[in-house]
Amino acid sequence: MRRTNGKVKDTMDATILLLPGDGVGPEVVSSAQQVLEAVAAEAGHTFRFRDARIGGTAIDEEGDPLPPDTMAACLQADAVLLGAVGGPRWADPTRPVRPEQGLLRLREVLGTFANLRPVRAYPGLEDASALRPDRLDGVDLMIVRELTGGIYFGTREEASTDSKTAFDTMAYSEPEVERLAHVAFRLARSRRRRVISVDKANVLASSRLWRRVVTQVAREYPDVAFESMLVDAAAMHLLRCPRDFDVLVTGNLFGDILADEASMLAGSMGLLPSASLAGLPEPSRNGPPVRGLYEPVHGSAPDIAGKGIANPLGAILSAAMLLRHSLGLAREADGIEDAVAQVLADGVRTPDLSPGSETGTAAMTRAVVEALDAGAAKTLRSEAKAHA
Ligand code: IPM
Ligand code: MG
Repeated sequence: MRRTNGKVKDTMDATILLLPGDGVGPEVVSSAQQVLEAVAAEAGHTFRFRDARIGGTAIDEEGDPLPPDTMAACLQADAVLLGAVGGPRWADPTRPVRPEQGLLRLREVLGTFANLRPVRAYPGLEDASALRPDRLDGVDLMIVRELTGGIYFGTREEASTDSKTAFDTMAYSEPEVERLAHVAFRLARSRRRRVISVDKANVLASSRLWRRVVTQVAREYPDVAFESMLVDAAAMHLLRCPRDFDVLVTGNLFGDILADEASMLAGSMGLLPSASLAGLPEPSRNGPPVRGLYEPVHGSAPDIAGKGIANPLGAILSAAMLLRHSLGLAREADGIEDAVAQVLADGVRTPDLSPGSETGTAAMTRAVVEALDAGAAKTLRSEAKAHA
């Protein structure tokens, strides 16, 4: 990554690795790339795109869901944008090689321990949500999920013909919880200054350690309101009063489940982005970049793959998170997020948001690029006015 400080503005030269993956992955990643190209053209940045295989497609071509070339390319790039992995062709859980293993290994290799999943209820989309509109007004929360530890990475044993038992282990160490807690509290400071930590401390030893460590870290952030909540209660509270949540921080398994639950507040999983970070989120333009893997939350959606109707907004908003956290381009990230809010306010809807709508992936992408151009033109006009 190279930053050039010109007279008028500073520009950036960065390599972005695209991992389109399976199902609708290639369609939505291509949309996000178009939006990133529009941002680059407007702001004078140079983004070089490379792509590599992951998931089921990589198994088919190379017998490995995360081939060595892909891994090397991920480590070299300034940031990685992933579509989705998995699908019915590789869904048999007894297969020794599965697409999901590629994603889990990639998270581990990149060290992306902090998974950020923001969920917002956009005005005008209340009908698409499973909840009553009066519960949705003002919902804006950030799930911070631990991503490289816990039960997804613990010691396990499969059942076999001689052993009729299988097990998985949920283990957490103090440093693992501590670094994640700092991510949550830092983020809370740029939001509504509330952190709720979710665990199962009334039963699990790893949760008792979790609660103790997060509570300790909370003392370093006296300006942030903090409480712990049991996961079963949190699952209920998310539906009863979702507005109460600002930052929700939790372990790998609980975060996986609660993030899908929370996605229903937004109306469609197709809208939701995610960022997986290997360090503290760094919102400043000149701060050190943090390594990150960015992906929409919706998964491969095999039932609609290839039809040109997948909602690209989750991938496009993931690209915004990429600019913010890995390239330090917060203003450009805001520009994309504003453009998405604008097209939704204008009533542009893919079929997941409005069944029967004829607006497909390409039309939605065009609408975002147009809104982005309009937003940039407006900013230029107001800057010119300010200088006049
Ligand atoms: C997610 C997915 C993955 C996970 C799967 C595909 C391994 O469900 O990103 O939430 O469980 O982390
Ligand atoms: Mg999941």
